[in-house]
Amino acid sequence: MPIRTSVPDTTSAIDRSHPEFPVAELVDEDNFFKDHTPPAYLPEIEAQVREFIAHHQTTGKNVVLVTSGGTTVPLENNTVRFIDNFSAGTRGATSAEYFLENGYAVIFLHREFSLLPYSRHYSHTTNCFLDYMDEADGKIEINKKFADEMLLVLRKYRHAKDSNLLLLIPYTTVNQYLYTLQLISKCLQVAGKKALFYLAAAVSDFFLPSSKIPEHKIQSQATGTLVVNLEQVPKFLRRLVDSWAPSAMIVSFKLETDANILILKAKGALERYQHQLVIGNLLQTRKDEVVFVTSTDERWIRLTEEQKGVVDIESLIIPEVIAAHTDWTERQ
Ligand code: PMT
Repeated sequence: MPIRTSVPDTTSAIDRSHPEFPVAELVDEDNFFKDHTPPAYLPEIEAQVREFIAHHQTTGKNVVLVTSGGTTVPLENNTVRFIDNFSAGTRGATSAEYFLENGYAVIFLHREFSLLPYSRHYSHTTNCFLDYMDEADGKIEINKKFADEMLLVLRKYRHAKDSNLLLLIPYTTVNQYLYTLQLISKCLQVAGKKALFYLAAAVSDFFLPSSKIPEHKIQSQATGTLVVNLEQVPKFLRRLVDSWAPSAMIVSFKLETDANILILKAKGALERYQHQLVIGNLLQTRKDEVVFVTSTDERWIRLTEEQKGVVDIESLIIPEVIAAHTDWTERQ
């Protein structure tokens, strides 16, 4: 049975045994894990991840953890309402395909029901999946217009599947994401420098701690307003670099909407977390250009006018990331 992370835990009520979540302390990450319950399915994921990593210890392949999609923040335990973000998982799913094409094994930590490698070509489009098919002599077949490209995608998909190169791990809430990220990071420690983290998920900056989540659907108020006091999600990137994955190479993304602050923010993240690479992108142009920011350099990668809308920018990003990973492992 597949693990379903989008089904809320309807059995648990508000748990007052959890202390109030403290704000802005040095040990925020630790407090988060102390005050929030891990998802019940985590041991199952641990077994899958350990088996996958052990397998690729024998194949000798580098393993990349690609995070993808957006985390949700539930406002109720029996979740009717939640806070979400725009990410469909395009960056993550597309990048995973290019990592696979370039010889990496991929753990794909993704928002459940967001875009997946290979199926992304046919899901979430304006076409209904039946539009890819035709009827011929009472049998169903792939519409000739799509058949050639679909065959290429099918071959890559089958290769990834048959060679056990792609492990799909879902999350829905920010709590599930953080617990699963921590778990996978610790499992990946055995891979040492051969492990690469590519953090493309859009992670909530604010959330409602479990001590404040009501059990049932929030009712309409006589005042007609609802005031929700969100708290800051701890910046777990520091902990990832320092202790969850100290020997791996870590690539994080920085998303902004204001071009004037993108580089500044990307440099700030590098300084704060002391990892290897920040890839900056603007919401408005993220499919056409990104900027690689390291401690010594900043370099734009752009699609040409002819490439826009035709070429995946990830086909340019991933070889560069892999070159940086190779260089970094050789220098260690
Ligand atoms: O899915 P698409 O539609 O293709 O969109 C792709 C994308 C724009 C989401 C992707 O390219 C991207 O930029 N992802 C990172 C978005 C993001 O969370 O940016 P941020 O500025 O909020 O965070 C920067 C980094 O801090 C993140 O890499 C995250 O790992 C880290 N972070 C974030 C929140 C948090 N509480 N703690 C963190 O450590």
